[in-house]
Amino acid sequence: MNKNAFRQLSYGVYVVSTWDKGRATGCTANSVMQITSDPATIAVSINHDNYTNGCIQETGKFAISILGEHSDPGIIGTFGFRSGRDHSKFDGTEQLLKSFLPVVADACAYLVCEVVNRMETSTHTVFLGKVLDADMLKDDTPMTYAYYHNVIKGKSPKNAPTYIAE
Ligand SMILES: Cc1cc2nc3c(=O)[nH]c(=O)nc-3n(C[C@H](O)[C@H](O)[C@H](O)COP(=O)(O)O)c2cc1C
Repeated sequence: MNKNAFRQLSYGVYVVSTWDKGRATGCTANSVMQITSDPATIAVSINHDNYTNGCIQETGKFAISILGEHSDPGIIGTFGFRSGRDHSKFDGTEQLLKSFLPVVADACAYLVCEVVNRMETSTHTVFLGKVLDADMLKDDTPMTYAYYHNVIKGKSPKNAPTYIAE
């Protein structure tokens, strides 16, 4: 199998957030897709080892902050290379409260979802979320995963579904 073919799939760059017993937490994710528009439904794939996974299972809700090309790239690092297990990621990241969920202020748009279904794979949970709220935050071009790799020169850690060992 030529795994370079997987690199031809297109994605965006997002922060998937929720609550951890009253504390805002979340992780960077590229694996967000819209399933249908009516009822508006979104899917996201979150690794079993990510602290965010258990927090979403507990709250039954998650938000998606859609990062833009002008969003601080440090947000991707904080949320994508550290764990909420031992780090309060929102401490250094401005947060907004939208429909009772924390979202990243420095994003171009957000969606707030309620988990309506989930599917388990051997490594990841695919959460299906009904969109409860969505709005624009900033006039910016949404960041693509290609932009993250080619312009920001960012890497993907092991828990990202797109990770390919060098
Ligand atoms: C660009 C990028 C994309 C990522 N995409 C995903 C993803 O779609 N799903 C996932 O489970 N982890 C993904 N990750 C990895 C998580 O963000 C990372 O494991 C994070 O540290 C988990 O934090 P947590 O333990 O607080 O949940 C991605 C990381 C980066 C940098």
